[in-house]
Amino acid sequence: MSVTLGRTGRLNTFWLEVQKRKLVAIALFFGLLAAPGTLLGSDGSDQPVDEPYLSNLVVQDCGSCHGLTLRGGLGPPLRPENLDHLPVDAIAAIIREGVPGSAMPPWKPLLAPEEIHWISRQLKSGALISP
Ligand code: HEC
Repeated sequence: MSVTLGRTGRLNTFWLEVQKRKLVAIALFFGLLAAPGTLLGSDGSDQPVDEPYLSNLVVQDCGSCHGLTLRGGLGPPLRPENLDHLPVDAIAAIIREGVPGSAMPPWKPLLAPEEIHWISRQLKSGALISP
C-alpha cells in the first residue's frame, strides 16, 4: 500500500515537473516573439488595428467634443490644417495622456498604442473627414 502510494507520488511529481517545463518553454517562446517590439520600444505603428471601429470612435467619441466634422466644439478643431504644429508622435501623446486641467481625457485605458498611433496618423492626413 505505502509502496504504491510512494510510486504514484513520485510519478505525479515527475509529471508536474514535465508540465512546468512545458509551460516555461511556451512562455519563453512567446516572450521571444514579443521581445523585438518591446526592445525597439514599438509605438505600435506597425500593428494592425480595427479601422472601422476606430473611424467610428473618432467621429462619435472624439467628435462629441471636437465636433462631428472635427471643426471644433468644446475641444479645438482637429483637421489637418489645425494640427500643423503637432507631429504625429505629439498628437499620440496628447491622446494617450489627455491634457491635464482640461476636458481632454487620457485614452490609454481604452485604446492600445497602435490604435492611438493610427488615429493620430488619420488626423494628420484628414482621412476620416470630408473636405
Ligand atoms: C470630453 C471632451 C473631449 C473628448 C471626448 C476628446 N477631447 Fe481632445 N481635447 C479636448 C479639449 C478641451 C482639448 C484642449 C485641451 C487644451 O486645453 O489644450 C483637447 C485637445 C486635443 C488635442 C490637441 C489639439 C491641439 O491643437 O493642441 C488632440 C490632438 C485631441 N484633443 C484629440 C482627441 C481625440 C483623438 C479624441 C478621441 C479619441 C479626443 N480628443 C476626445 C476635449 C476632448
